[in-house]
Amino acid sequence: MRFRKEITLENGLACILRNCEYDDGEAVFDIYTETHGETDFLLAYPDESSFTVAQERDFLKSSAESERGIQLCAEIDGKLVGLAGLEPLGSKYKIRHRGEIGISILKDFWGMGLGYQMMEVLMECALSVGITQVELQVVSDNERGLALYKKLGFKEFGRNKKGLNSRISGYQELIYMSLELK
Ligand SMILES: CC(C)(COP(=O)(O)OP(=O)(O)OC[C@H]1O[C@@H](n2cnc3c(N)ncnc32)[C@H](O)[C@@H]1OP(=O)(O)O)[C@@H](O)C(=O)NCCC(=O)NCCS
Repeated sequence: MRFRKEITLENGLACILRNCEYDDGEAVFDIYTETHGETDFLLAYPDESSFTVAQERDFLKSSAESERGIQLCAEIDGKLVGLAGLEPLGSKYKIRHRGEIGISILKDFWGMGLGYQMMEVLMECALSVGITQVELQVVSDNERGLALYKKLGFKEFGRNKKGLNSRISGYQELIYMSLELK
């Protein structure tokens, strides 16, 4: 799916929210590595990226051409500072209403309202293609993430006490959350 919008962050910075394209492959690979090294709340470590830069380019091309999913990026002064993705769970009738969401922003750009605005775009994209239930998983210690999701209206529907196994802190509890879109 394709999307583009210019926004202003709470501190006055101009930012472009747009879908990632083939040519963003290297920048996306780099920001994936950086964000996954800055926090222990994501699902993988920087050395565990499942994509090479070439594979990342192909993935971004197919996601830009996809009818129902989007890989969104935030660009400030020509540099990518955040990524957020909406993935439909599938195309079969029984699960067509469900989509999964993930987001990561460079630490220097936390707390400026960017997460909120990126999530709002994902919701808008989801609704536009008939996805009426968005779902995510968040580590229970991730106060900032939880605050963001609760502010958007996400509700908890379950927990997995040993959802992740951190190299740093051991098992991390995962909270499953969903939001119905109207
Ligand atoms: C979680 C994340 C996406 C939030 O993005 P963000 O741009 O910092 O979020 P926003 O600026 O839109 O703030 C959202 C809310 O966070 C809350 N918040 C801000 N600072 C906080 C803090 N220090 N502690 C707890 N909550 C905080 C506020 O409630 C804020 O809402 P407000 O605007 O009413 O004050 C971002 O911090 C991030 O990428 N973190 C690392 C990766 C990650 O955890 N991803 C999510 C995995 S589930």
